Amino acid sequence: MDSISIQVNGRGYSRRAEPRMHLGDFLRDELRLTGTHLGCEHGVCGACTVLVNGQPTRSCITFAVACEGQEVTTIEGYDDDAVMQRLRPAFTRHHALQCGFCTPGMLTTARDIVLRVPHADEARVRLELSGNLCRCTGYQGIVDAILDVLQQQRDTPDTQVENLRKALSLPRTIAVDRLTSPNQAQLPARSPAKPPAADPVASAEMAEVDPVAMAKAKAKGNAIEVHFDVPYPADQVWEFMGDLPAVASCLPGATIDSHEGERVKGTIAIKFGPMSAAFAGAARLERDDVARRAVLRGAGQDSLSKSRTQGDIIYRLEALSAGSTRVHVDMIYALQGPLAQFSRSGLVKDFVRRMVADFGKQITRRLGGHTGASSEPQPTVSVAGMMWSVLWSRIRGWFGKSPQA
Ligand code: FES
Ligand code: FES
Repeated sequence: MDSISIQVNGRGYSRRAEPRMHLGDFLRDELRLTGTHLGCEHGVCGACTVLVNGQPTRSCITFAVACEGQEVTTIEGYDDDAVMQRLRPAFTRHHALQCGFCTPGMLTTARDIVLRVPHADEARVRLELSGNLCRCTGYQGIVDAILDVLQQQRDTPDTQVENLRKALSLPRTIAVDRLTSPNQAQLPARSPAKPPAADPVASAEMAEVDPVAMAKAKAKGNAIEVHFDVPYPADQVWEFMGDLPAVASCLPGATIDSHEGERVKGTIAIKFGPMSAAFAGAARLERDDVARRAVLRGAGQDSLSKSRTQGDIIYRLEALSAGSTRVHVDMIYALQGPLAQFSRSGLVKDFVRRMVADFGKQITRRLGGHTGASSEPQPTVSVAGMMWSVLWSRIRGWFGKSPQA
């Protein structure tokens, strides 16, 4: 049993909990806050969504002990919340609930949409809500209620909502001291927010690949092997793949901020259902020209979710013929933090495979003379579509039809 000090809905608690207890059970069983509903208990339905340090989080796949010193808000904690004061009547007006089981998670996500995406249209609201399932399938009312609140905020802005929107962009430091009594309610004031880092890329330089974590990641099966064929000679492909900025321009969501020799710093933006992240990081490329084999070692951090990733991308070229090359790509990756909740899913592997296939197509285009100029569609645009493509392939597979390539 571990001891946890945690702040829930503005009140401090200190409790003992098994390391395996998830936050949803902790809230319901230990604190009797039963407004947090548990549906699937493996991170899919969104019913258990609560805020952890202001970020929507699946409480069923977050260990309670991992929330030591954190600030949690459940559905019981929004009495005076300006956004909820608009969302609650809007849900009633638009008949946005039937049995109500999904409603606590839906409201938490809806609040996040109202704050984070002020100009969302219906398509965007539906995309943002895609991580919350309603077994009564009452989605239209929920979408209408959120759009209604977004419109209200445009027509008659509420200062408190605007302040909450501004606060979202500020870095936060939560400090919860260990409490001596289980029900002691007073907590120390929050530490003042730190000023934003002057250069997020510079801070990413500290991210180093940890060989132990990589060995564990491999043992856990966080490894993917894929290949793609390029209709150009191996020498030409090898030369191109030594040009890091050119290679990055072929990778969906990647941007390079600086590049010196075999070292590179940059960002990879991903969008996975309702989750989006931008990993700022640093990587080093080691090339073996004779074997035409290279290892790209990198690590990075998403400033919003504080998730960290590190990994090796090993690629080697195989000449299939004088004018055709196979690029073998082996990836080993480790993900820590809130986004790690998705790393168990086979969807992530499918997603990465699609991303690598798209990468191969972009390389073929660039070798064929396309410049990647700004007038051309950016590879990042394809990421959301890729996600749908992956899901569609999965669904076809579940129903016994072969996935489309
Ligand atoms: S209970 Fe379904 S996501 Fe947590
Ligand atoms: S209203 Fe019943 S599950 Fe959504």
